[in-house]
Amino acid sequence: MIHRRRILKWGTMGFGSMIITPKIFSTPKKIIMGKKPLVISTWDAGINANKGAWKILREKGRALDAVEAGVMITEAEKDNCCVGLSAYPDRDGHVTLDASIMDEYGNAGSVAFIERIKHPISVARRVMEKTPHVMLAGSGAQQFAVEQGFPLEEDKLSDSAQKAYDEWLKKSEYKPVKNIENTKGQNAFAPNKLSNGSFNHDTIGMIAIDAQGNLSGSCTTSGLAFKMRGRVGDSPIPGAGLYVDNEVGAAVSTGVGEEVIKICGTHTVIEAMRHGMNPEEACKFAVERVIKRNSAEKIKDIQVAFIAIDKNGNYGGYAIQKGFNYAVCYADDYNELIDSKYSL
Ligand code: GLY
Repeated sequence: MIHRRRILKWGTMGFGSMIITPKIFSTPKKIIMGKKPLVISTWDAGINANKGAWKILREKGRALDAVEAGVMITEAEKDNCCVGLSAYPDRDGHVTLDASIMDEYGNAGSVAFIERIKHPISVARRVMEKTPHVMLAGSGAQQFAVEQGFPLEEDKLSDSAQKAYDEWLKKSEYKPVKNIENTKGQNAFAPNKLSNGSFNHDTIGMIAIDAQGNLSGSCTTSGLAFKMRGRVGDSPIPGAGLYVDNEVGAAVSTGVGEEVIKICGTHTVIEAMRHGMNPEEACKFAVERVIKRNSAEKIKDIQVAFIAIDKNGNYGGYAIQKGFNYAVCYADDYNELIDSKYSL
């Protein structure tokens, strides 16, 4: 595992007024001492998203607020193939979004197959906090969002999504591929077309532990590019795309949702941590379960990754394929902001 650590300056931190000195230094490969507060999130896009979460965590705010605010940044990005309304559509040309959120009490809220709503993560939170339900889907989720005051956005593809869709329509082949980034400076969420004619696609998942030691998580995506209409992935399903148990830890996934659902992925990670594995070992355990269920031929084209935090603020991740990055942000014992990226 390669670890690149970047230290950034932050003006006002809620952890005292120590001088923050930018520097680069090498780190141990695997064992990271527990940190609180801490936020980690999937892919390079997580670096930006973590900044939104950190504004809340550094003021000793609640992890739930942090994980919502963090992924809202990604949902609002204008040129993002994978998250929010600028993302690639389903095969009928509509962007459909899935999102879920969980808090420190084990409450969960989610939306699936929702259209024309800019911030599905916030609707998921409203489902959790304002309804007796866990998940709302499709037109019902949209109706609830509008009732809650969320604006109904235009039913129009972003320029980059329209371009990718027009290209895809030439063959209309459903050919999801493993997602990778950082091999040639490639960002997993940038509009793209791979050399084999396929398109990347993925999810932002974020988990955090706050200064009070409470955990929360969020997950938001447009699912797989050019998926069948009505397809729902792992992201809005508690225990598949996201799971939080405040006694144990939090885990979130990215990659081919069908494979994550079939092994109850993030629940598997949490249970593995409950039985003594550290976060990286637990993520590896779940990834190995996906690998075991598939032929070698099939697995070479599948990416599934998990990241996890335990109750003590230790963190880790694991992926089937190389080329998965996750972003990490915390303040260390000297109150330096550690804003780093792990490449698996
Ligand atoms: N992991 C996102 C999806 O499969 O929809």
